[in-house]
Amino acid sequence: MCHSARGAASSVNGVSFQVIADRYRTSPAAAGVLESRVKLGSVGTFGSVPMPANPQITDAELAIVIPWILRH
Ligand code: HEM
Repeated sequence: MCHSARGAASSVNGVSFQVIADRYRTSPAAAGVLESRVKLGSVGTFGSVPMPANPQITDAELAIVIPWILRH
């Protein structure tokens, strides 16, 4: 509903993982920042549409998902 893998804009609600990776791929500190933004929600990095908090995702899952997003 929100994120697709590739392309400029995925849908009404989100940004593609490729666009996120293009922005952070070269900054080593990105993973930590992104983990907390996914967990707590965030807005303003890519636009005015907010990402809601995702309390259901565990730290162990984030440690897998974020590096995967940054490999797009
Ligand atoms: C556990 C599931 C999710 C993961 C792993 C994820 C991952 C991400 C990441 C890594 C970012 C970039 C954050 C930044 O650069 O500040 C992001 C932004 C965003 N996500 Fe998600 N997301 C998830 C769920 C969702 C859902 C459910 C929605 C829609 C309801 C959503 C909508 C957005 C939007 C709109 C942004 C851009 C926010 C901004 O401009 O600052 N995400 N997401």
